[in-house]
Amino acid sequence: MNNIEEIKYESKEELYDYMNMALEGLISEEPDWLANLSNASALLWMLIDDINWAGFYLYKNNELVLGPFQGKPACTHIQLGKGVCGAAAITMKTQLVKNVHEFPGHIACDSSSNSEIVIPIAVENKLIGVLDIDSPRLNRFDETDQAYLETFVSLLVKHVHFPETFI
Ligand code: SME
Repeated sequence: MNNIEEIKYESKEELYDYMNMALEGLISEEPDWLANLSNASALLWMLIDDINWAGFYLYKNNELVLGPFQGKPACTHIQLGKGVCGAAAITMKTQLVKNVHEFPGHIACDSSSNSEIVIPIAVENKLIGVLDIDSPRLNRFDETDQAYLETFVSLLVKHVHFPETFI
């Protein structure tokens, strides 16, 4: 079913177009949300260079709880407003952090992280969770990454049947 390959690409745009097309192929026919978020984290991990963590925190009982991811074991609970993930969750806005050591309250789950992007996931304006990607390289993510990763999240929102308890 999935013949996704580690392609050689000329530009970031080309890579992300491929990744977002591959995501739709993986998740559009699969009804299980956990399977879909698991494959989504594996796809990010496989295709994006220079990252050390990629995955999800899900909003449950008024906090963020670790979901499917790739990378080292991570913090399991994050309070709203705490760290980069908590900031994305409470503001419902993408946090593009060029140097995590300058972000007040950054939570260092993996000490090799130097930059990070966190995108909120919301269905009809209700918080579902966040997508978090960390890099060991300072300044790894820019506005192009942000735009394409926000599209990635919008594809998740379109196709994934999140459990009612998250909505
Ligand atoms: N750095 C995040 C915590 C999660 S880990 O990076 C996987 C934060 O500050 O919210």
